[in-house]
Amino acid sequence: MKLKIVTDCSEVDWKTISESLKKVSMAYHEPEVHKRAFEASHTTVFIYEDSQLIGFGRAISDGEYQGAIYDVVVLPEVQGKGIGKIIMQTILDRLPNCNLILYANPGMEGFYKGLGFGQMKTGMALFTTPQAMGKFTK
Ligand SMILES: CC(C)(COP(=O)(O)OP(=O)(O)OC[C@H]1O[C@@H](n2cnc3c(N)ncnc32)[C@H](O)[C@@H]1OP(=O)(O)O)[C@@H](O)C(=O)NCCC(=O)NCCS
Repeated sequence: MKLKIVTDCSEVDWKTISESLKKVSMAYHEPEVHKRAFEASHTTVFIYEDSQLIGFGRAISDGEYQGAIYDVVVLPEVQGKGIGKIIMQTILDRLPNCNLILYANPGMEGFYKGLGFGQMKTGMALFTTPQAMGKFTK
């Protein structure tokens, strides 16, 4: 498997980002919205096999001491081959001095634990939809 790791947004087909997020049942938006979100992020990672985008991720950050990781995806047909780890390691390498937070999808905690992440005890959040807020313990 010959992979290309790209960390800028210039080659990205944003429709593929939207479709890939949908494919893995993650929140997705219109392609233009993802374009703006990724381009406004501190760190972006895109993994290509030949010319096909097969995985990606991003982090928003001040670049100094705080960051948050979002939209980490590997297409189902190539999961379990170490690509998720490459995406995460590329993000971690670019934010070496930052505390990093993320939301783990249910069942994905082990993936992040393997990279050194631990469960937070004091996390709080204000989300934009009642459905998302409904996931929290009151
Ligand atoms: C989560 C995801 C990014 C992992 O990518 P991947 O390429 O399949 O993972 P990797 O092959 O790089 O796995 C790296 C390590 O994590 C482990 N791992 C992967 N998924 C795991 C899981 N769900 N639970 C526990 N461990 C997991 C692997 O066994 C591997 O362990 P090793 O280093 O000891 O061999 C991918 O499964 C995915 O895109 N899932 C759907 C979208 C999603 O839920 N994204 C996360 C949002 S929070």
